[in-house]
Amino acid sequence: MRPKIVVIGSLNMDLVVQAARPPVMGETILGKSMQFVPGGKGANQAVALARLGAEVSLIGSVGKDFFADELVNSLESAGVDKTAVKTIESSSTGTAFILLTEEENSIVVVPGANAYCTKEDIDAHIDMIKQADFVLLQMEIPLETVCYVSQVAKRLGKTVILNPAPAQKLPGELLACIDYLTPNETELAILADGEPELEKGIDALLAQGVRTVITTLGAEGVAYKTSGQALQRVGSYRVPVVDTTGAGDAFNAGLTYALGIGKPQAEVIAFANKVAALAVSKFGAQLGMPTLEEVLRFAETCHLECK
Ligand code: RIB
Repeated sequence: MRPKIVVIGSLNMDLVVQAARPPVMGETILGKSMQFVPGGKGANQAVALARLGAEVSLIGSVGKDFFADELVNSLESAGVDKTAVKTIESSSTGTAFILLTEEENSIVVVPGANAYCTKEDIDAHIDMIKQADFVLLQMEIPLETVCYVSQVAKRLGKTVILNPAPAQKLPGELLACIDYLTPNETELAILADGEPELEKGIDALLAQGVRTVITTLGAEGVAYKTSGQALQRVGSYRVPVVDTTGAGDAFNAGLTYALGIGKPQAEVIAFANKVAALAVSKFGAQLGMPTLEEVLRFAETCHLECK
């Protein structure tokens, strides 16, 4: 069975600089390398889903430049339906400036054409949404569009998954439409008004109408809670880490795919963790997204980092 998924989100060209450490403000340091690789949370999640075997369409915007062609080609070669990716003649394509050090990465995103992904685009592609089982969203397009499409999708009876990254405080009418909300720990704190305690933060979002909150905790795995049930934890997998860019995107794609093929909840999260583990063991956000065969092979040999 191939789940049908519509992703509404960003396409960015990632400019990845590798350096031993980040410079302090006002300092100049020498880096090791610089590469241009396809990225953007929407495109990353769409590509990851296609590699897993889902039938996936992306609604989004690019500018009129060389980056746009590269990003659209990347979607095409992964098998993503790109007919709803429009070109904004007056804008540049979204870009992300990523500093990759041995310990961490940091990212500055310049939205460019992603800022032109509007409610009208949702109306124009409403048939695509009607035919899908799942709608997968992130926060690199305007909040207004995210709110609108969530409400439309909910009315149509679709399962709505929101990866709230980059995080900002979200309105109640949006949260009430979300079946699965997938913040990391930092994002959870922002969404839950700075609440430092994990479960209390999750409860605050459940109280506003989210059905299930799934919080990714890096090497600590995942903590999740469905409204009216107890908090559950699922461990992550031990892998050599090359590049954590796109780990969240891989997780969200794995989660959506596994829900789409009808796996039970705990297995869904274990599957998503495997997709994320494989993604961080390779360089580049989209470049590192695994195929289903790679995930199944990994499942035979992988070791849990923690339980
Ligand atoms: O989630 C990783 C992505 O965030 C990168 O590909 C970059 O484009 C930013 O959007």
